[in-house]
Amino acid sequence: GENKLSLTPPMGWNSWNVWAGKVDKKKVEDAADQMIASGLAAHGYSYINVDDTWEAGRDDQGNILSNEKFPDMPGLSAYIHDKGLKFGIYSSPGPKTCADFTGSYQHDDKDAATYAAWGVDYLKYDWCSYGEIVKDDHSIAADMKPYQIMGSALGKVNRDILYSLCQYGMGDVWKWGADPSINGNCWRTTGDITDNWGSLKSIFESQPGHEKYAGPGHWNDPDMLMVGIVGFGNTHPTGLKPNEQILHVSMWSLLAAPLLIGCDMTKLDPFTLALLANDEMIDIDQDPLGKGASLIIKKDGKQVWVRPLFDGTKAVGLVNTGSAPQTVTVKWADLGIKGAQPVRDIWLHKNVGTLKGSYSVEVPAHGCVMLKIGTAKKV
Ligand code: GLA
Repeated sequence: GENKLSLTPPMGWNSWNVWAGKVDKKKVEDAADQMIASGLAAHGYSYINVDDTWEAGRDDQGNILSNEKFPDMPGLSAYIHDKGLKFGIYSSPGPKTCADFTGSYQHDDKDAATYAAWGVDYLKYDWCSYGEIVKDDHSIAADMKPYQIMGSALGKVNRDILYSLCQYGMGDVWKWGADPSINGNCWRTTGDITDNWGSLKSIFESQPGHEKYAGPGHWNDPDMLMVGIVGFGNTHPTGLKPNEQILHVSMWSLLAAPLLIGCDMTKLDPFTLALLANDEMIDIDQDPLGKGASLIIKKDGKQVWVRPLFDGTKAVGLVNTGSAPQTVTVKWADLGIKGAQPVRDIWLHKNVGTLKGSYSVEVPAHGCVMLKIGTAKKV
């Protein structure tokens, strides 16, 4: 049944973007420790999610086992819960996961029961190797089926488990990921993000139109954050430049996306921490109205994205995808508002002024100026 989880987009950490197959118990415990020590938990980040490569086949009864990197899943879960954080795990509906470990095919009920017994709070459910099962059937029904099967398995266990469909946007998943036969809490809208400008740009430029499918309990997921030390096990600082990282985090917040940190939590530098801990950015991501931003202007490398907020104000992203600084303008007429309006810069933490008609500002190359425009209604 409908689980009432993720009434705002999930926030936390996931092991994949930094560790990929090199993840182990110690690295996950370190991430949990640092989620607290860095202060990020106090800003709302709560999930500590183990991605692929923890699986080790099944016992005689068909119960999934964890491998030598994760000798005690219930213990790891307790470690995370003792810190007030939540525990996430990964599987795939085919016989094998994307990294070729044991998948949940024909074991959904057993796996859901195991996750519940382990105290799992979040399941990222992939697609890999399910293609072998559906073969040439590219129908929506075939795309939906594995998520329905696991969705119903999760509905039978006595534990709330956030259900993340990692399905790359096939068959317009945004149209049916929240269907009552699935009850997905979020769904990937694209292939995997990598830490470069081309990947980031192609992901956010593919989002317009999906916003009408986002809402409390069910979100578009343009994949995990690529800030800090990342590299899928071959660790290095993100290839995104500082302005690209500001754009990345701004866009995810405007899009009402999950904020899943993908980096080495033990090596958070001040810039990365400031990016992730900006409460004004987080408040926009977590806005209870739950609407995603629409792209209202796209011309000459300039983009204007607008997200309506619960208090009647608008979050606005002024984006420059060009390779030199450009002035980008937002007009009140395009926002459906009139008269003098207060404008606040979310990254400068500064009131720009109370302005009539429009606001123009120079946006750095591959950058984003993020604004909050309008007077909050008394609620
Ligand atoms: C897919 C997903 C990634 C990650 C890997 C694990 O590629 O999109 O986020 O979970 O599988 O193998």
